[in-house]
Amino acid sequence: MSAPSEIDPDLLDPIPANPFPTLVRWFEEARACDSIPNPEAMAVASVDAAGDPQVRLVLCRGFDPKEGRFEFFTNYESDKGVQLDAHPRASCVIHWDPLGRQVRFTGAVARTTEERSDAYFASRDPLSQISAWASRQSRVVKDRETLEASRAALRAQLGDGSAAPIPRPPHWGGFLIEAEHIELWSAREGRFHDRARWIRRREGTTTRWDGTRLQP
Ligand SMILES: Cc1cc2nc3c(=O)[nH]c(=O)nc-3n(C[C@H](O)[C@H](O)[C@H](O)COP(=O)(O)O)c2cc1C
Repeated sequence: MSAPSEIDPDLLDPIPANPFPTLVRWFEEARACDSIPNPEAMAVASVDAAGDPQVRLVLCRGFDPKEGRFEFFTNYESDKGVQLDAHPRASCVIHWDPLGRQVRFTGAVARTTEERSDAYFASRDPLSQISAWASRQSRVVKDRETLEASRAALRAQLGDGSAAPIPRPPHWGGFLIEAEHIELWSAREGRFHDRARWIRRREGTTTRWDGTRLQP
């Protein structure tokens, strides 16, 4: 699929009452776009113990438009895992350059259920499953050889998944980010872009989104 026209009808006035139908369409178009090899790539910023922001790319593996939640999987003992458990807030950005679109959101973070983490881990290829056991993500390692030896030892122990499924390591699983602010950005001619931001308003058990247009 080629890039759509610069003008996104959903970001013209009035902007929609809920950003998620637009975002569902944007995800679909990004996945269908041949020039976007990693449509799920999402930068996640957390805050470390010193109060410094820390950002890295992950893959957004789940998106629940009804609840406004985004999910990714990682090592809970990695820097990001420790930071998100200690200070469960994240700010994220997704950029689809060939489509001229950016999505930003900030919100509260919680661990995914064990069942979902199990199901996602089971869907991964066996080598990635073994790597999840073998890597103490974000910790220092002497050299590549030490890493390879660690994975080879675990491969010998856990097998290749054909005889018995490789279990999920207890230190590996998902995080859910529940957007509280979300911004959709769409490129327009002469850098006079469209920006719309929605803020979640909770009313009992229901959510309403307050949308406003921002200057580019
Ligand atoms: C495109 C891309 C996707 C990535 N996806 C993930 C992911 O889904 N989960 C993950 O733990 N790391 C992923 N990584 C690696 C992270 O960027 C990062 O190096 C790693 O998680 C360690 O981060 P930390 O030390 O801040 O915890 C990805 C890297 C790239 C470039």
